[in-house]
Amino acid sequence: MTDSGQTQLSMVDLHSHLVPGVDDGTTTAAESIAALSDLYRQEVRTVVTTPHLLLPNLGSDGAIDRELELHRRAFHDLALACLERNDLPSVALGQEIWAPDAAAVRRVVWRPDVGLAGGRYLLVEFGFELQGNHNDVVREVQEAGRQIVIAHPERYHYLPDHNPIDVMRTWQELGALLQVNVGSLTGHYRRSSPQSEGLAWQMIDAGLADILATDHHGPRREGVSPAEARNALIARGQLALAERAMVEIPGMIARNDPVGSRLPR
Ligand SMILES: [Fe+2]
Repeated sequence: MTDSGQTQLSMVDLHSHLVPGVDDGTTTAAESIAALSDLYRQEVRTVVTTPHLLLPNLGSDGAIDRELELHRRAFHDLALACLERNDLPSVALGQEIWAPDAAAVRRVVWRPDVGLAGGRYLLVEFGFELQGNHNDVVREVQEAGRQIVIAHPERYHYLPDHNPIDVMRTWQELGALLQVNVGSLTGHYRRSSPQSEGLAWQMIDAGLADILATDHHGPRREGVSPAEARNALIARGQLALAERAMVEIPGMIARNDPVGSRLPR
């Protein structure tokens, strides 16, 4: 504990786009290193960076192979550049998998070269305009013996007759872990998804926020301050949740430890 009574955090960030030149995130190693250095200053000590794997755009297994190889090569070069610095978090590679349906995720769920830090956890997004409840994707991943982490549920547009909190609760009951973007808690997506801030706080209050992560896209997009999000949580009496969602659970995932049944809330 610090003198102020706040626990020192060594945060783990499981969602970002900091492999240079492979997606809509950073474009150069210098940009990636600047972002990593900034995260380190905010007490992030481990980053699993997650380039987009846009399955609907990849028409064959060969196309998936080539995309993953592209990620690995660019990540390798970044990791080498990071070795020269002592003010950066440790970095590992994952993917943010766009899988709108079970058939899409079935194409990669068996692959040992897909997963957060090479482990059993898959970070999956369904697409911003939801076409249904997407429970089929959750079941497909769970039935393959892996675990799904659903990226930023607070940013999706739900069908008009769907209550977002009810849909999220069903995902969690099916075994999914839900990842909220730190920027949602501090209003950074008000223009692109006006509902995201309110939904993120509803998720916090309803016990639906398992993981907080940056979804950092480099210097051209704002809204990626884990320290600001942590302070916002502390201001609302949610220090314990901040520790669980920014340190403990993402730490287990980065180490490929089983998160298992719900931790006490
Ligand atoms: Fe992302």
